[in-house]
Amino acid sequence: MADEYERSAEFVDLMLAPHWAGLGPPLAAALRGITDPIVDVGAGGGHGTRVIAKAAPGAEIVAVEPSMALRSILLARVGEAGELRERVTVLPEHLLAAALPSRLGAVVAMNVLGHFDPAGRQAAWKMLADRLVPGGRAVLNLQPPAEPAAVPESRFAEVRIGRRRYEGWGRAEPAGPDLITWHMTYRTYQDDRPAGELETRYDWWVLDERRLKEELGPHGLVHHRTGPAELGMYVIDRGGA
Ligand SMILES: C[S@@+](CC[C@H](N)C(=O)[O-])C[C@H]1O[C@@H](n2cnc3c(N)ncnc32)[C@H](O)[C@@H]1O
Repeated sequence: MADEYERSAEFVDLMLAPHWAGLGPPLAAALRGITDPIVDVGAGGGHGTRVIAKAAPGAEIVAVEPSMALRSILLARVGEAGELRERVTVLPEHLLAAALPSRLGAVVAMNVLGHFDPAGRQAAWKMLADRLVPGGRAVLNLQPPAEPAAVPESRFAEVRIGRRRYEGWGRAEPAGPDLITWHMTYRTYQDDRPAGELETRYDWWVLDERRLKEELGPHGLVHHRTGPAELGMYVIDRGGA
């Protein structure tokens, strides 16, 4: 499978950082008390991995990241932090091909579910049902749009580093019944003059809360909203188990 982040990794990790100011606290709250291994699905450069490590100090962490470009950032971030080096194992496979512990305390899938097609999601829900320990849970977010609608171009990130300013722009168009294509443009300015532009695109499977519920039910799983509504975050567990 192609690495959709091969060319954009240098911008993606930088531009995800501000979002983690909002995502971190509800994720940490949702993981409190977990001591069994935690999988960080599509860990990217490891912003979430750091949150997980702090929130569940007794748990081993398996960070699954198939993009070599983003995994390089992840390994550097883990390698430089003594408290992460001891506890975080980085796996280069896709989630469904990775050798994971047989019993899991939690599975975290932040900003990643749209990379899974419906069959991939089914396999992921089955993995949760098979491997989560009693009291275990998954934490994930659903990102808009919830249906295959066009999204007009907008700037979603702006970061200044030294003399350079980096802007991330995105627009989406429908690509199938449950699929959109995101078109991303990353613009670089030096001293406010254009210094470079990179365009990428990737497919993204859309999912709304109703369908999430329908898919989880047959696996004996239920979802609960968590965190501020605008973050679209959910905890998934066996419900009352
Ligand atoms: C938008 S990034 C999110 C990174 C990180 N979770 C964060 O929020 O900072 C999506 C990540 O999912 C990864 N990914 C895509 N398909 C995957 C799969 N099948 N299994 C595991 N990770 C996957 C990508 O390589 C990428 O790192």
